[in-house]
Amino acid sequence: MASLHRMQTVTQSPTDPAFVQNPYLFYDTARQFGDLVYWEDYDMVAAVSHSAVQALLRDRRFGREVPPELTKPSPEHLAPWIAVEAHSMLELEPPRHTRLRSLVLRAFTSRAIAELAPSVEALCHELIDRFPDEPFDLLEAYCTQIPVITICRLLGVPEHMAPQLLTWSHAMVAMYQANRTRQTEDAAARASNEFTAFLEEYVEQRRKDPRDDLITRLISAEEEGEKLSRKELITTCILLLNAGHEATVHALGNGVKTVLATGTQEQITSLETIDKAVEEILRFDPPLHMFTRYAYEDVEICGHSFARGDEVALLLGAANRDPEIWSDPNTFDPSRNVTPNTSFGGGLHFCVGAPLARLEMRIALPILFNRCPELNLVDGARYSNSYHFHGLTELIAQI
Ligand code: HEM
Repeated sequence: MASLHRMQTVTQSPTDPAFVQNPYLFYDTARQFGDLVYWEDYDMVAAVSHSAVQALLRDRRFGREVPPELTKPSPEHLAPWIAVEAHSMLELEPPRHTRLRSLVLRAFTSRAIAELAPSVEALCHELIDRFPDEPFDLLEAYCTQIPVITICRLLGVPEHMAPQLLTWSHAMVAMYQANRTRQTEDAAARASNEFTAFLEEYVEQRRKDPRDDLITRLISAEEEGEKLSRKELITTCILLLNAGHEATVHALGNGVKTVLATGTQEQITSLETIDKAVEEILRFDPPLHMFTRYAYEDVEICGHSFARGDEVALLLGAANRDPEIWSDPNTFDPSRNVTPNTSFGGGLHFCVGAPLARLEMRIALPILFNRCPELNLVDGARYSNSYHFHGLTELIAQI
C-alpha cells in the first residue's frame, strides 16, 4: 500500500446491520476527514467526496480491469463464473471495452429507448390491475416486474423466462456482496453454467429466426466476423439481462419508500416535476453504493500517492450526499435543481442503461402514485444485508 500519511483510518464493518440500514451516517463522518479515507475493513483507500469520486471515475490512469501482474489463478469451482466475467465490458478497459460497448450503444439510442415508453406504460397498468386488496409485496409485484420484463422485451428473450432470469441473476451478482461464502460461489458457478447453456441454445434458435431486437443485432455483429466472438455475445447478453434489472428494481423500491416516508407523493404524480424527482430519488438513496478501480501507474490524486496496482473504492452513495454540492444533502427534496448525481457512475464505464432506467422510473412512479393515492406501507421496509447493493428485502404495502 502506498503512502497513508495524513490519511484518516476509518473502521466500519460492511455487514454491520445498523450500517446496512443507514450507511449515510458513516459517509458523513468519513467525509469530514477529507476526500479520501483509509477504510480498514476493506484494507483500501475510499473516495468519499463528490469531487474525489468524480475525479477517479474519469481518470484514465485508473480502471476496472485487473492489472496483469495481480491476476491470480482462479479456483476450479469458480471457472464457469470467471468464463462469463472474462468477456464482460464492465470488467474490461480499452480496446476491448470500446468495441463491446459501442456495439451495445447502437441499440441504446435515445430513440430506441423512447420507443419503449408505450410498452412500459401498458405494463405498469397491467401490474396495478392485478394488485390484491390485502397487503402485498410491492417490490415483487411492481418494482421487480417492470425492469425484468422490459429488458426481456428489449433483448428479445421470451417474457415467461423472467422468473428464471431473476434466479440466475441474483445468484451471479451475489458474488459482489460483502458476505460472500463458498455457497455463494457454488451457486454463482451453477447459475453461470445454466444461463450460458440457455443463451447458447436460444441464440442458435434466433439465428434461424431473426427479429427486430437486440439479440438479433448482436448476432449479426458476430456473423460479420471479428467484431464479436461467440463468448462475448453470450456474456454481453448475460450482462445486459442482469444489469438491466438488478439496480432498477431497487431504485424503484428505494424511491417508493422515500416518497411515502416523506409524504411527497404530489411531486411524483405531476409530469412537470417528475424528471427532477427521479434525479433526487437516484441521488438520495441509490441502489449501488461502491465500485472499485485499480491504479495503472504511480499517481498522486487528492494529495495521496497511489502505487500501480493499488485498489481504491469509490463510494457513490457518499458522493451523492456531499454538502459541497447539495445544500441540506440529507433532506429529500424532489424539487431540487438537477445537478448530475453519481448514481450511474461516470467516465468510460458510465451506465449504458441510464436512459432506460430513467425512462422506467419516470413512467412507473407517477402511474403508481396516481392510480394508488392511498398507497401506504404496512411494515417498516428493511434493506438487505448486502452493503453495496442497497435495496429492500420487501415492501409490504396496501392500496
Ligand atoms: C437505476 C438503475 C441503474 C443504476 C443505478 C446503474 C448504475 C450503474 C453504474 C454505477 C455503473 C458503472 C460502474 C462502474 O463505473 O464501475 C453501471 C454500468 C453499467 N450498467 Fe447500469 N445502472 C442501472 C441500470 C442499468 C440498466 C437498466 C442497464 C441495462 C440495460 C444497465 C447496464 C449497465 C452496463 C452494461 C454497465 C457497464 C458499462 C461499461 O462497463 O461500460 N444499467 N451501471
